[in-house]
Amino acid sequence: MHAQITGWGKYLPERVLTNKDLEKTVDTSDEWIETRTGIRERRIIADDEAASTMAVAAGRRALEVAGLSPQQLDMVIVATSSPDRIMPATAALVQNELGAEGAAAFDVNAACSGFIYALIIAYQFIAAGACENILVVASEAVSRSIDWEDRSTCVLFGDGAGAVVVQANGNATDMLSFVMGNDGSGADLLYIHHPCGLPTNTHNDKRYYMVMDGKNVFRFGVAALADVSRQVIDAAGLNISDIDLFIPHQANNRITQAAMKALGISSEKVFVNLDRYGNTSAASPAIALCEAVEQSRLKQGDMVVLVAFGAGLSWAATVLRWQPDAYS
Ligand code: ACO
Repeated sequence: MHAQITGWGKYLPERVLTNKDLEKTVDTSDEWIETRTGIRERRIIADDEAASTMAVAAGRRALEVAGLSPQQLDMVIVATSSPDRIMPATAALVQNELGAEGAAAFDVNAACSGFIYALIIAYQFIAAGACENILVVASEAVSRSIDWEDRSTCVLFGDGAGAVVVQANGNATDMLSFVMGNDGSGADLLYIHHPCGLPTNTHNDKRYYMVMDGKNVFRFGVAALADVSRQVIDAAGLNISDIDLFIPHQANNRITQAAMKALGISSEKVFVNLDRYGNTSAASPAIALCEAVEQSRLKQGDMVVLVAFGAGLSWAATVLRWQPDAYS
């Protein structure tokens, strides 16, 4: 059985936190953040929101675009490393809130690579003939795991969610190739000891906060984006010049630019929304894909590469032929 994306949606919390706002709380500057990362502002969830509530909002929009009711879903996969609770899965809360009765529901934690991991998993279930309609959501309440006194991490991240509906299709698949992997020897370069999806860390306990070796993650990110993009394009039997749009994980513009330069890809072919949202971890490629469609950066038949790296150290990429109109 073939599979393809038929719906997409995103949700960004209302509250905007600008670089200027951060200047008031930590020793940083708008100029430093923008030159070193490309980020101008990010979104922060309200106290009554969580990864699940953002996932529900993004998922509903994706279902609307696909013209599918929640009851028709066979499976709900949520990619997150900032779950509401350790148990049950955030996907269980999303499944219930959407009314996707009886659908299988589980989370995928592959940090920033999580959305692409989850998308690849969804395609395997459809290819095997086990499912027809799957909702894949990436939702991250990263701000809950940020030490707002640590300027080396607090300027980088933001909250948000992106979703796609993947459906079985008799005609053709839109996922032409994929690559996924991990190097656990780098697990200590980026981690969160204790999860804190809900705003419960009232004692400012540092064990709930993200710890990152920025320099080594930076080096890994540049190499991963370039190597994994090459591998996935080769696996699809294509050349770099055949790709119409690259949607990389939005971590740092300097990481993206160094990787794209290594691949010889011009900036017009690279989608960027990091300036407005910062690094939204797993949600980043999902939100970017959704915005690329909304901004008509993707046309029917275009070849698009989604590529990400993250804690783990993990990586994942896929080549998609963008053809939602071909669904039958
Ligand atoms: N404002 C002002 N100065 C700062 C800030 C800040 N926010 N943060 C660090 N500095 C200072 C440092 O203290 C240092 O000062 P010093 O020279 O006096 O010691 C100086 O700026 C340079 O620091 P570097 O760490 O060398 O800065 P660099 O250019 O490497 O940028 C950054 C740091 C932005 C964190 C970069 O290393 C990076 O982007 N790393 C990758 C991060 C990433 O992508 N993480 C997410 C991975 S995906 C996932 O799974 C979540």
